Amino acid sequence: MKICMIGSGYVGLVTGACLAEFGMEVICVDNDAAKIALLRKGECPFYEPGLDEVLEKNMKEGRLSFSTDTKQGIKASSVIFIAVGTPAKVDGSSDLSHVEAVARQIAAYMTDYKIIVIKSTVPVGTGKWIKGVMEGALEEKFAFDLVSNPEFLREGAAVEDFFRPDRIVIGAESERAIQAMKEIYNAFYLNEAPFVITSIEASELIKHASNAFLATKISFINEIAILCERVGADVHDVARAMGLDGRIGKKFLHPGPGFGGSCFPKDTKALVHVGKEHDCAMEIVQATIRVNERQKERMLEKIEEMTGDLRGKTIGVLGLAFKPNTDDMREASAIPIIQGLQARGARIKAYDPEAMEAAKKIFQDVTFCKGPYEVAEGSHAIVLLTEWNQFRLLDLERIKGLLKEPVFIDLRNVYEPLHMHGLGFRYCGVGR
Ligand code: UDX
Repeated sequence: MKICMIGSGYVGLVTGACLAEFGMEVICVDNDAAKIALLRKGECPFYEPGLDEVLEKNMKEGRLSFSTDTKQGIKASSVIFIAVGTPAKVDGSSDLSHVEAVARQIAAYMTDYKIIVIKSTVPVGTGKWIKGVMEGALEEKFAFDLVSNPEFLREGAAVEDFFRPDRIVIGAESERAIQAMKEIYNAFYLNEAPFVITSIEASELIKHASNAFLATKISFINEIAILCERVGADVHDVARAMGLDGRIGKKFLHPGPGFGGSCFPKDTKALVHVGKEHDCAMEIVQATIRVNERQKERMLEKIEEMTGDLRGKTIGVLGLAFKPNTDDMREASAIPIIQGLQARGARIKAYDPEAMEAAKKIFQDVTFCKGPYEVAEGSHAIVLLTEWNQFRLLDLERIKGLLKEPVFIDLRNVYEPLHMHGLGFRYCGVGR
């Protein structure tokens, strides 16, 4: 089966390469010629563990290719995935202009029956709308089926998540489309990964509802963490005991500086917007968003409580990416926190193993260092913002010796308070 993946970003490239691994012939198309040129040289335009190997192997075996020629890609393929970005607009709604543009291109170029799969994260109702757009453009010249097939890939674990999915969600209206999708995901069918075959609307809503619920868990534990600080409880004990209840589950109960990334902030806003359009306000998701924004402000207050007046102080920041194992700075908590520290007169030294290039495009007047010890040198405090593994076993005596003041603000609770106090640090975490 020949597949055309339109959009070779975080979602499209991983999905395309992994479908090629399943033996399908995949052409990944993108209108970013520079990105396609990189990919043709076997280079990955972003950091994603394990993706290099999948790209190289499948390009070598001739199943995976890259092109900027959308028309050729569409003509040569029987299934076309739309995997372009759907960023949040100012009012929180999803910008679907790229999805619409691709749908119109497919209608313009198709010369026989196609299955069009919306892989991009879209608000419920988009599939129905896109179907209408295409029917209008096609004037019944050719038949097609539209499918919703949302992705559940975590950045930094996307390849792993693709090959070990918790579920495959297919929203479709025809048996023919369902059969084609089962054929595409046949490798999962064989090893019993759960398939959810449902309507297009339910499939679209599953994606937003899942991400909004995960984000709600994070905002919930962040609020509990602040209360723990006020009442002298350890949020690690609270979260662990909560998570032992099978109905709650232990994942996504780690307090921190608030969630970031390209999904949770965008998907929660989009879901609230959809709710408003259908006269149901999504109060809980609205609260999740508000708590998340407040959490970043609270981190600034926490830092200032530990350092005193920030004017003229140098603050060393460890980690910039929105989470470990990615170079993605989108909506990273580091952005408002660093800008807030600078607004209070602090100078910033920072290091991140992968996101420095992206960070240099965002921050002004930040001194980018080669490693954590250079960050600590001469700083009045260390702030651990992203829990990269290389920050988990720092030579703490050395850090303390390099700091002007032995202040360690651990916004990811990587270290143990007792141990840090024993070393002579003025230490604080989140909720401990
Ligand atoms: C998310 C969803 O997890 C994934 O299923 C969806 O398909 C895409 O969006 P991703 O954004 O890549 O994946 O990262 P994830 O690991 O989910 O973390 C998102 C944010 O939540 C990060 O900023 C992370 O630091 C934060 N987080 C996560 C917490 O603050 N606490 C937690 O317990 C877990």
